[in-house]
Amino acid sequence: MEQQCGREESEGVLPDRVDYNFHVKPILADKCFACHGPDASKREAGLRLDLKENALGELPEHPGAFAIVPGKPEQSELIRRIRHEDPLEVMPPSDSKLALSEFEKDVLEKWIKQGAIFKPHWAFTPPVKAALPKVRKKKWPQSP
Ligand code: HEC
Repeated sequence: MEQQCGREESEGVLPDRVDYNFHVKPILADKCFACHGPDASKREAGLRLDLKENALGELPEHPGAFAIVPGKPEQSELIRRIRHEDPLEVMPPSDSKLALSEFEKDVLEKWIKQGAIFKPHWAFTPPVKAALPKVRKKKWPQSP
């Protein structure tokens, strides 16, 4: 059976291929961008997670450390902080009334493990012709 989009979260099944626009960005936008997004006046720790160059770069306040190390969640400060048990360390901060579900943490970790690919918004990626659906009864279809 093919996995249907949208059913994954309710079933707690991680997507095979974590997609930035579809799976990751909504989580970051909801839970992180308020303090690590485009608004410079609200930005904390100089960390932007909405831009690849910043998210993958050295942490401005912690030279030598990185929020995201593609392929290496265990070296990524982002993962350490979202999984932290100390309420003073955990992200989003415990007093922010924001929290990540275990599923959301797993999505972020798998995305980093798979290389933390940032994709431009779908509207700017050229369309790719979809593959024809697989048909079991090969004789039925008369045309694609
Ligand atoms: C309400 C504001 C707020 C939200 C929302 C928030 N953060 Fe933070 N974040 C902070 C503050 C303040 C700091 C700096 C103090 C600290 O390190 O605890 C910080 C620091 C960090 C750091 C460490 C930066 C460094 O220099 O070491 C990481 C990584 C981080 N946040 C990731 C996240 C992620 C991922 C999310 C979303 C899941 C998130 N934050 C949501 C306020 C926020």
